[in-house]
Formats: sequence, C-alpha cells, structure tokens
Amino acid sequence: MTLAPPRICPMNVHQKIVFSCSPTSKPVGADARAALLKDPGFGRVFTDHMVTIRWTQERGWHDAQVRAREPISLDPAAAVLHYGQEIFEGLKAYTLSDSSIALFRPEQNARRFRASAVRMAMPELPESMFLQAIEELVKIDAAWIPTGEGSLYLRPFMFATEAFLGVRPSHECLFVLIASSVGSYFKGGAKAVTVWLSDRYTRAAEGGTGAAKCGGNYAASLLAQAEAIEHGCDQVVFLDAAEHRWVEELGGMNVFFVFDDGSIQTPPLDGTILHGVTRDSLLTLARDMGATVREERYSIEQWKADAECGRLTEAFACGTAAVVTPIGRVKGVDGEFTIGGQSVGPLTMRLRSALVDIQRGHAPDPYGWTERVF
Ligand SMILES: Cc1ncc(COP(=O)(O)O)c(C=O)c1O
Repeated sequence: MTLAPPRICPMNVHQKIVFSCSPTSKPVGADARAALLKDPGFGRVFTDHMVTIRWTQERGWHDAQVRAREPISLDPAAAVLHYGQEIFEGLKAYTLSDSSIALFRPEQNARRFRASAVRMAMPELPESMFLQAIEELVKIDAAWIPTGEGSLYLRPFMFATEAFLGVRPSHECLFVLIASSVGSYFKGGAKAVTVWLSDRYTRAAEGGTGAAKCGGNYAASLLAQAEAIEHGCDQVVFLDAAEHRWVEELGGMNVFFVFDDGSIQTPPLDGTILHGVTRDSLLTLARDMGATVREERYSIEQWKADAECGRLTEAFACGTAAVVTPIGRVKGVDGEFTIGGQSVGPLTMRLRSALVDIQRGHAPDPYGWTERVF
C-alpha cells in the first residue's frame, strides 16, 4: 500500500523573515581555521556562527538571528528531552570551479523539512525562511568552506522547547542551523563497504515515521548499527517491518541495485523510507543516461540469488554525506554473499561522477540543481 505523504500547506512556501545579525566577538583565527580545514573529517569541525528562529503558538515564527555558535540552554522540562519532538536536515555548500559558492537542490531539503515537521506535529518552517537561513549562514561563514573535495555540511534542525510534561505537541519550538566543514568520504577512491543485514531490528513500519527525518529514527537505528560494527560491517541494511523480507534502506542512505542488462532498481517511496535528494537526483541522471529505472521492491532472497548468479552486478548506497558508496558484501546471521568484484562498478562510478560534476560545477547543470549563493 502506498501511504500518502503528510499534507503540507502551500501558504508556507514564500513567507520571509528579517534576521538580526550579531557576529561572534571571538572568531577562530585564520591560521587555526586553516589547520582545522586541512583534514576536517566529518561532523567535528564547526563554524563560528549559527542561525536561530523561534516559534510560539501565539507569535508564529519570530526572532530570527545570525549569532555566535554557542551552547543552547533548555528548561529540563523541554518537551524534546522527554518525547523526542525533533527533526533535522542535511545538505552541503560547495566551492565551484569558478570559486563561487553553491548549494545543491536546497529547496528539496526545505520541503522535506516541512514534511517531517508535519509528521512530528511541529510547525512548518516556510521554505523561503529555511533558504534565507542557509544563505545567511553560508555567507557569514564562507571562510569555513573547504576547497578541493571538501564542503560545508549544513545541519538545520528544530526541536520542541516548551517546558511542559503533558504529552501533546509543543507550543514552542526552536529552529537552529549550524554548519560543519567536512572532507571527502572518498579519499583514495570509493571503497566498497560491507553491510550487515539486521534480522532483529527494523527501522520503520507502515504508518510510522520512516519517511520523516526525525532524531528518533536514528536513535532507533543505533543498536542495529552497533551490531553491524560488531560483525565487522560498515553499515546496517534494514528490511521491512511487516514481512522482514523487502530491502528498505541503510541507517542513513538509500540503496540501489544495478543489473547485467544495465537496468537499475531502488525501493519505492511508500512511507517507510526517506525521500533522499541524492536518490531522486541519481534516478533522473540514470534515466537521462538511457538506463531502465525501476522503483520497485527487492527482496533479500532475490538480492542473494541475483548476486550469486551474476544477474546483479553492482549495488550502492547514496546520500548527501557519502554521496555514493558501493556495497561489496552483505553479511547476516544466515551467511554472506558478495556483489560483483566487490569494488566500485562502472555504472556506480558513472552515476557518482555525473552527480559530483554537477554539484561541483565541473559539468553543465541542465536540471537547475545548483543554486549559487554568491
Ligand atoms: C535514513 C536516510 N535515508 C536516506 C538518506 C539520503 O538522503 P539524502 O540523499 O537527501 O541525503 C539519508 C540522509 O539524509 C538518511 O538519513
């Protein structure tokens, strides 16, 4: 059954807000920043500023600020700390070959943020405000955007701040945007990963929150991810909750399969998986390369059988953080199987390059996906 996505209100697209700006009095010095940007890794190096916007039931969205990045104080009764009302997004700003700064399909993240908010009974941040916030932060912290293969990972999030222990949607929320300078996931080439097939845990069920980007989904995936690591695997792959048979997605990435006839397949968006921006972009690129593309369910038995007989030649995971990650081996309690030559397959590489070339401005962008900030 295909579940209808949460309804989002068309009024909430264009509303803008005025930001006050108080730059930090203690910016990281240029030399210290350069040292941090040499090898930033992922999610550890943060910029000088953040954006905050408050929401209350009485006043709506207000008090938009660009300010120093600093700890946030919360009442111990804040609803997020008890009932987990929290959502987030992840997108990147890149330095293009002409030195301009661009975002990749940020309006998609703005839309998904609203959809996640609706599912979690939170206020919808108008898409225009989401985009304004991103622009403000990218502009003030532009010096933190690594050159070369790195990028600025933007993390918008929102949580329930009302101090109230009753179980109902919070009447107060805070939207925050922070940014982290990140390096490439692909140092020394795209290495194929081994995934762990979770037989005990599921990520999402029909009617649940699988299609929302809410913190609780990730909290629930951590034990399965820890189990994957214990078994020497890099990532966990989840099956559906009802039959425990259909491949859904990884803890933080969508999954694709490539066949010997050149066709590609990915699980459909039927409510339990995240509507990945990378997934959508790769589907478009693959179609435009002339590949047959299917958004259809794929069972774990079929995956194993196809990998063993050679009908399945490549598999990969995709998402904003790691872009495209080849899957070389699948392990589970019932054994393991390998895919292709356990290295990066040709179609995986072609799709990845096509995407990265558009993101980085190395190739024309016929889709209008890159949005220049300046
Ligand atoms: C569960 C999950 N699936 C898929 C994705 C990929 O989505 P995107 O391509 O928009 O980053 C992510 C990453 O955000 C994710 O957390």
